[in-house]
Amino acid sequence: MTLDIKVLAEEAKKGCLSGKTIDAIRNEIMDAMAGIKRKGIDKLVKYMQGSDFFTAPASTKFHGNYEGGLAAHSYLVYHEFDELLTRHGSDLPSESRIISGICHDFCKVGVYRKNEAKRGKAPVKPYSFDDEYPLGHGEKSLLIISKYIEPTIKESLLIRWHMGGYDQNYEINSEKVKKLCSEMVFLQSADRIVSSWCNV
Ligand SMILES: [Fe+2]
Ligand SMILES: [Fe+2]
Repeated sequence: MTLDIKVLAEEAKKGCLSGKTIDAIRNEIMDAMAGIKRKGIDKLVKYMQGSDFFTAPASTKFHGNYEGGLAAHSYLVYHEFDELLTRHGSDLPSESRIISGICHDFCKVGVYRKNEAKRGKAPVKPYSFDDEYPLGHGEKSLLIISKYIEPTIKESLLIRWHMGGYDQNYEINSEKVKKLCSEMVFLQSADRIVSSWCNV
């Protein structure tokens, strides 16, 4: 089953992904991950399969706040990142595009709880946020990934700093980060495009 991005965008606008779309996103992500030949990648994929990565939302009330939102966001960010890199002539390897794009928000795995409807009334926010291990955002994603595989310097920087100016610590580090990884602007942009423009 191939993913129809137009259908995904339409469903996202309505705030609910179909089971078919959620399955198709899972397949696309699995296919991309299968192309990575790196020590520990099988364990990383197992971690994803055993977690709520494919069913969790991407936020409580902003972009992707529905079942499958996190996987949809992650896949679309990878897709957008890959297109931007190619269009601008970057030679960042395919593995790095997949790892940085798909895994950048691993910090959101296992932190959203579904709010139950009370007396037939839908909850104001469909999910609430409860992070048992608050280790940061990009920092936590990188920490999780590093438990299974050894990310390259560029992958580490991309994941750690993907929030750009939304991260208070970015400004003092940005010059060095950009020098070490000129592709940074593309992951930050892809993340913004997908969350703000596509609302996924
Ligand atoms: Fe993020
Ligand atoms: Fe993101």
